[in-house]
Amino acid sequence: KIIPVIMSGGVGSRLWPESRETNPKPFMSLPDGDNLIRKTYRRATAFDNVTEIMTVTNRDLLFKTEDEYKAAKTSSIVQSFILEPFGRNTAAAVAAAAIQIQKNHGDDAIVLVLAADHLIQNEQAFSEAVNSAIQLATEGWLVTFGIQPEAPETGFGYIDANKSAPLGDGFKVNRFVEKPDLATATEYINAGNFLWNSGMFCFRIGTLMEEMEQHCQEVLVAVNTTISTSRLSEAPRYSALSLDAETFGKVPDISIDYALMERSERVATIPCNIGWSDIGSWTAMSELTPCDDSGNRFDGDVLTFQSSNNFVRSSDRLTSLVGVNNLIVVDTPDAILIVDKDHAQDVKHIVSQLKKSG
Ligand code: GDD
Ligand code: MG
Repeated sequence: KIIPVIMSGGVGSRLWPESRETNPKPFMSLPDGDNLIRKTYRRATAFDNVTEIMTVTNRDLLFKTEDEYKAAKTSSIVQSFILEPFGRNTAAAVAAAAIQIQKNHGDDAIVLVLAADHLIQNEQAFSEAVNSAIQLATEGWLVTFGIQPEAPETGFGYIDANKSAPLGDGFKVNRFVEKPDLATATEYINAGNFLWNSGMFCFRIGTLMEEMEQHCQEVLVAVNTTISTSRLSEAPRYSALSLDAETFGKVPDISIDYALMERSERVATIPCNIGWSDIGSWTAMSELTPCDDSGNRFDGDVLTFQSSNNFVRSSDRLTSLVGVNNLIVVDTPDAILIVDKDHAQDVKHIVSQLKKSG
């Protein structure tokens, strides 16, 4: 039995002004008219033996998420939601899902943890990787999906794959290092055997619980307390466990990567080439739109004169560019972003400023 768990909680502040608290990154429309949450849901329902999907998300996003799942038009599948009053990071989200799944399906259930905001362009290769991962998870490994790294990015986890210790279709992991600094990341890239952590995982519930007990018991205990004081509601199409805010606020704020993956000795990885991207910035988003002869990418109505390598995304207004290069322009009804491509990562600072100014 395999149960996909979709984690949906990030704000995606580097994709402001389109991604915001009320309409975060998974819900942003992509150039193909689809969005990431629907794609993730379809991907999750496509595996054999999937009869239930669990989603961990903010309580304010329940109806929005449900609408997207309906729009994904897949065969009907049991929906269970764990609803957070606020985000308490991924260790808490995974722990809550694991506790509920253990209760309902026992230790042998296999969970596939998916991020709601990732793009996977080669679904066939991903599905093969998942089958390999299920194999290793069944044998008691905490399985990661390793991506061939492209640059010394500091926003990812790094997997030190032990190429001399093959395990099924993958490898045992010597060490997992979450978000190293630039010098360390560069060292890892040069070493050649490191992979990026995709942020998706495959676990056997019994193994996950044992390892969490050993490495991040505080999270597990605190989430258990929350669940025992939380309310389960059953609607015709879904069940939803609304986490109690008071007790949930006491759960340590730590990611699953730091809390478990860096500490466990039972980590394995399946290297995979699946066309993966976490669409971490407007630069990554722009690459989904085709490029014209001047290197411009336009998603909307645009006129230009002597301008190159720009990306414009706009909804209903005409945008015109004259004599400018290397810009990202995002036009929305109440905010415009104009950013130099080399500063795409810094958009998050505008979101911090907005938060400060209330
Ligand atoms: N429900 C819920 N609650 N979901 C959450 C929460 C939370 O409090 N926090 C994060 N998530 C969701 C995000 O929406 C995303 O889908 C996923 O969990 C991962 O969280 P991020 O906040 O995006 O993590 P990250 O990008 O910094 O790092 C992770 O992903 C990288 C790949 O994109 C790590 O796993 C890295 O090791 C990995 O390389
Ligand atoms: Mg992320």
